[in-house]
Amino acid sequence: MNTSQTDSFGRTVDYLRISITDRCNERCLYCLPENYSNWLPRGEILAYDELLAIVKAAVSLGFKRFRVTGGEPLIRPGVVKFIRDLSVTPGVECVHLTTNGTLLPELAKPLFDAGLRRINISLDALDPAIYHAITNGDIAPVLHGIKLVKELGFESVKLNTVLMRGKNDGEIFRLLDFAAEHDIVIRFIELMPVSLTEMLSEKNFFPVTELLAKLQREDELEPLAKSFGVGPAKYFRLKKRGATMGLIGALSDLHFCERCNKMRLTCDGKLRPCLGNHLETDLKPALRPKIDTVRLLEFIRETLVQKPSEHLFRNNYQPQRVMTAIGG
Ligand code: 5AD
Ligand code: SF4
Repeated sequence: MNTSQTDSFGRTVDYLRISITDRCNERCLYCLPENYSNWLPRGEILAYDELLAIVKAAVSLGFKRFRVTGGEPLIRPGVVKFIRDLSVTPGVECVHLTTNGTLLPELAKPLFDAGLRRINISLDALDPAIYHAITNGDIAPVLHGIKLVKELGFESVKLNTVLMRGKNDGEIFRLLDFAAEHDIVIRFIELMPVSLTEMLSEKNFFPVTELLAKLQREDELEPLAKSFGVGPAKYFRLKKRGATMGLIGALSDLHFCERCNKMRLTCDGKLRPCLGNHLETDLKPALRPKIDTVRLLEFIRETLVQKPSEHLFRNNYQPQRVMTAIGG
């Protein structure tokens, strides 16, 4: 049994998000700049055996949960086998995936068979034109994919909606009805200043506090003690609509970071103790030319010690990397 690590502020950190690619088959407004072409050269991206070596080192330090993200993780060849290898790694208790859902029609079943049981799917709108305007993609395969994962019996299926005033705030009720109809938890996420396009501004920011007030006027909201994940979302049951909703108020919730349990690995091997901070440790010297487990453990421990008490998003934070390389 590996004991969990605590950071300098007493928080248990046992959750690692792993970005396996910076590439994406879409270009969400809040994520990728238009005409972005600054992709990392292939050799910079960690190989699956390097990722698994990091996972094993993390497990020995008490990490238990791992989320595979991107870019869009499902576009990377070999992802299904990686999910299987991750799921059977001793000490890995939980494997999650975040995807834009576009490739689920082909991959939902192979992923399920590989042992994946927890999946988050980005869904920023239901109206096909609005969906396209935000993501540059086609909603049909995503809706098909959502149906499939429900039929396959994944234990946890959640939808992620990034709130943008003037873009998808008119979709909120439809999204809630959709979530209720399919018995899926939906989470509304405040736009964070992590992209270089849909830059956070007073104009496009839609705080979850405003969403809550809006919903309270027309439904009966019951705060849920139970959490539907391991993250900072606060959950509510909308009694009239029959929907379960999570709110992720990265900016408006002043207690947002108090129970933060995670670190992030960028696809090129930088370990980040906090999404809203430029701190990062390059793990590559412990991986190349040869995997050096002792050094890896040192690097992970050192990064954990640096984990700041809270993000810098309210502090005129300027992103230096696009979200696709960090992992949503
Ligand atoms: N603000 C908030 N969430 C974001 N994501 C990506 N970019 C942003 C942003 N600027 C999250 C979304 C998406 C996941 C991949 O990353 O939840 O579903
Ligand atoms: Fe791709 Fe996800 Fe970024 Fe959208 S948010 S462009 S799906 S990586």
